[in-house]
Amino acid sequence: MVVLVLGGTGKTGLHLVQQLLARNVKVRTIVRSPEKLPIEVARHSELAVTTAKVLEMSDEALVEQLKDCTAVVSCLGHEGTYQGMCGKASRFLVYDVLRRVCRGIGELQSPAKVILMSTGLYTNPDNDEDVKIRNTCGQRALLCMLSTCLPPHNDNMRAAEFLRTELKGMEWCAVRPELLIDGEVSQYELRDSLVCSIFSAGQTSRANVAHFMCELVQNPSAWQKWRGRFPVIYNAAVS
Ligand SMILES: NC(=O)c1ccc[n+]([C@@H]2O[C@H](COP(=O)([O-])OP(=O)(O)OC[C@H]3O[C@@H](n4cnc5c(N)ncnc54)[C@H](OP(=O)(O)O)[C@@H]3O)[C@@H](O)[C@H]2O)c1
Repeated sequence: MVVLVLGGTGKTGLHLVQQLLARNVKVRTIVRSPEKLPIEVARHSELAVTTAKVLEMSDEALVEQLKDCTAVVSCLGHEGTYQGMCGKASRFLVYDVLRRVCRGIGELQSPAKVILMSTGLYTNPDNDEDVKIRNTCGQRALLCMLSTCLPPHNDNMRAAEFLRTELKGMEWCAVRPELLIDGEVSQYELRDSLVCSIFSAGQTSRANVAHFMCELVQNPSAWQKWRGRFPVIYNAAVS
């Protein structure tokens, strides 16, 4: 089993890399700044680190990374700088990389699973419960404002819509935490639809998001249950 993790130096991505390695899964990661990886992770015999800006990699180099992968997990997220959020090159970081990864998997005719770290701000139009809970003036106004003012929000929405509407014949799952917090792996709950208003968003530790992603990678019954869906994940205490 080989898993390609994108965003492996990020807060969630690093949890994911560490947890996969602890489960004896071979991990590849493409990172801009390998020095951000803790030394024991960077030196792990089952981890292959490629130093590159994933947005600037050639199609051939990206496809090379995808070869023999069981799963590709994107934990990419925008840097909190003006350039990171609004810069032309990275404005659609998550969507652009996801689209290229899916094209590469298609070219390879690989059965690799695609797992996206999405967000609880995404309302799945196919899910009546999602639509119902987001259907208040306040939430609609906030989402409209985020779409106008926050390019990373649009990127995350576009990536989720890409999976929902365009990814035919491929296996995928988009995990939707609402409010990310730090913390260790603990009990968590998975829902098929959103249960909280944006104004009372449920918390989820990044370690729990990573744990669930590991389950999606390794546990066939978890994959069977959640593939092609947008599970919402909450720390157990919240719900
Ligand atoms: N904050 C929340 O409450 C919340 C809730 C739900 C969902 N989310 C979403 O969850 C995702 C991950 O969150 P997180 O907190 O784990 O993210 P994070 O710690 O900010 O990590 C982001 C990762 O993306 C990489 N990255 C950023 N810009 C890049 C670029 N231009 N090219 C290549 N790699 C780039 C970073 O690499 P470097 O280390 O090199 O910078 C890092 O590895 C984000 O998409 C976020 O929108 C957040």
